[in-house]
Amino acid sequence: MRIGLVGGTGRMGEGLALRWCPKHDIVVGSRDASKAAAAAKEYREEALQHYGRIDGSMEGDENGRLVGYCDVVVLCIPYENMEGTLDGIAQGMRDGSIVICPIVPMSKGKDGFIYVPMHEHRDSAAMTVSRRLKNARVVAALHTISDVKLRRFTEPIESDVLVCADDKDALAVASELLREIRNLRPIYIGPISLAYQIESITPMLLNAARQNSIKNPSIRIA
Ligand SMILES: NC(=O)c1ccc[n+]([C@@H]2O[C@H](COP(=O)([O-])OP(=O)(O)OC[C@H]3O[C@@H](n4cnc5c(N)ncnc54)[C@H](OP(=O)(O)O)[C@@H]3O)[C@@H](O)[C@H]2O)c1
Repeated sequence: MRIGLVGGTGRMGEGLALRWCPKHDIVVGSRDASKAAAAAKEYREEALQHYGRIDGSMEGDENGRLVGYCDVVVLCIPYENMEGTLDGIAQGMRDGSIVICPIVPMSKGKDGFIYVPMHEHRDSAAMTVSRRLKNARVVAALHTISDVKLRRFTEPIESDVLVCADDKDALAVASELLREIRNLRPIYIGPISLAYQIESITPMLLNAARQNSIKNPSIRIA
């Protein structure tokens, strides 16, 4: 499978590239093609050092281009820059592409971390993505998995990952990719209209971490 990481030069992108490269072709995306190529080269070297060999390829490309030929696209970009990035990728997006959205619309208020859509009466990030990328099948996931844990790619992640999606086939493909991250368990919550529920867990987790000195918290549903 060819997986494109829009904004893949950042923290989540690095973790996902290193986790998925043993089995998949990874395209690291950026606004800048040369930055994308440099990151891809660095991730490939890091992966080879640990895995010995990887079956997939690791290339870099511009965000706007990779969405035209990848089967699965992950939006590894900050919420604040989401709208501009969606403008840049919407037109080139391949019909039926699976788009995984881990975007957490969060900011820091005076009392702690807050979920922005609730305060500003806006849609969830995944709902916005779904409206803007009309020919894509959006899956909301990965909001509660810290990049620190993802980038420690030699270690399992003992966590659940909550997932929302409207399309059953897209959900199945994304869930399988999530299960390939050792010990991660995808838990289906419902359609994209419920994505606000899973996006809003992250600011709560970060408040818990801050108030109780917990590092990189995640969740398990028992
Ligand atoms: N970090 C976490 O632990 C974590 C956990 C769960 C969910 N998330 C979510 O995952 C997403 C990515 O998080 P991250 O921590 O990986 O982000 P990040 O490292 O801060 O940034 C990722 C990439 O976004 C691109 N970017 C920066 N400014 C941009 C702009 N103005 N327009 C377009 N692209 C821009 C950059 O790529 P180029 O400069 O190469 O274009 C950057 O490398 C976020 O929405 C976050 O809420 C993060």
